[in-house]
Amino acid sequence: MAPRRTTLTQFLVEQQRSARAIKPELRLLIEVVARACKAIAVNVGKGALAGILGSNDTENVQGEVQKKLDVISNEILMEANEWGGHLAGMASEEMETFHEIPNRYPKGEYLLLFDPLDGSSNIDVNVSIGTIFSVLKSSDELGPVTEKSFLLPGTQQVAAGYAVYGPTTLLVLTVGTGVHCFTLDREMGSWVLTQSNMRIPEDTKEFAINMSNMRHWDPPVKRYIDELLLGETGPRGKNFNMRWVASMVADVHRIMTRGGVFMYPNDQRPTHRAGHLRLMYEANPMSLIVEQAGGAASTGSERILDVRPSKLHQRVSVFLGSKNEVDRIAAYHAEATK
Ligand code: F6P
Ligand code: MN
Repeated sequence: MAPRRTTLTQFLVEQQRSARAIKPELRLLIEVVARACKAIAVNVGKGALAGILGSNDTENVQGEVQKKLDVISNEILMEANEWGGHLAGMASEEMETFHEIPNRYPKGEYLLLFDPLDGSSNIDVNVSIGTIFSVLKSSDELGPVTEKSFLLPGTQQVAAGYAVYGPTTLLVLTVGTGVHCFTLDREMGSWVLTQSNMRIPEDTKEFAINMSNMRHWDPPVKRYIDELLLGETGPRGKNFNMRWVASMVADVHRIMTRGGVFMYPNDQRPTHRAGHLRLMYEANPMSLIVEQAGGAASTGSERILDVRPSKLHQRVSVFLGSKNEVDRIAAYHAEATK
């Protein structure tokens, strides 16, 4: 007999019944998001055969040219989640303002935020890309949703996850009871639990940063990277390796699998004073996942999950992964401000 496999559906039912970690509404909401990720994976897999590579003539709110797959992925997530009855509103990297659930559909208490297709620069070159999502519980008692409803710190997330569209399609999820990885069985069309309780080692010899920005970095970041580059004859006394996929999902997934530290610091460029990555639908969900796996996530000066957002598309400086490295980076920032 084939070994018993745990599907995402079974896992979520267990989280609801035995662990009492989630309510039925949240379980169903996560199922819908996971189903939408399957649909995105199908589109990603077709690539040029479906004529969906390349860009549209449009820009998103961040002034980035939208790829066709950015727009398709956003539509898939919007359409899948709009009518389910579990949401009060949604917000996306690809939409300037939040989307309130229309009155023709029932509404729920959750807010869903997503980066529909992370790592857009990798779409046309057939390198891993993904989807990142965050679920918050709205504190507005059935009142109308406003931008303010979304502006909750990352500690308030009730679920977070990412999908990776790579050699295999993965879904990595937390509902606050550790981090669990599901692999898409493409023949069966179902998500199968393939790794429970992922843990990030506290120490590492691997780092991820876009080195081409070095001349713009602030002194604590420069100091940290200089020390890594000095290897075993430097203050760290060991050699470090570097990896940079340039899809946050892929870089974070590597760290979830074998440890490492991922950095996208703010820097001196006027466009990057606040950082590059977006707090609400990139940094916060990834930070919850990383912390749930025993890692740490910091802006350099505070825990990312404690940042009080002031706008939906706010950017933030990000250092996350193996705890001892993130703590060291935070200590270098603290020393620099003394
Ligand atoms: O979403 C932003 C993003 O594409 C991340 O996925 C990735 O980590 C980063 O930007 C890549 O930035 P850069 O092109 O500067 O290396
Ligand atoms: Mn992104």
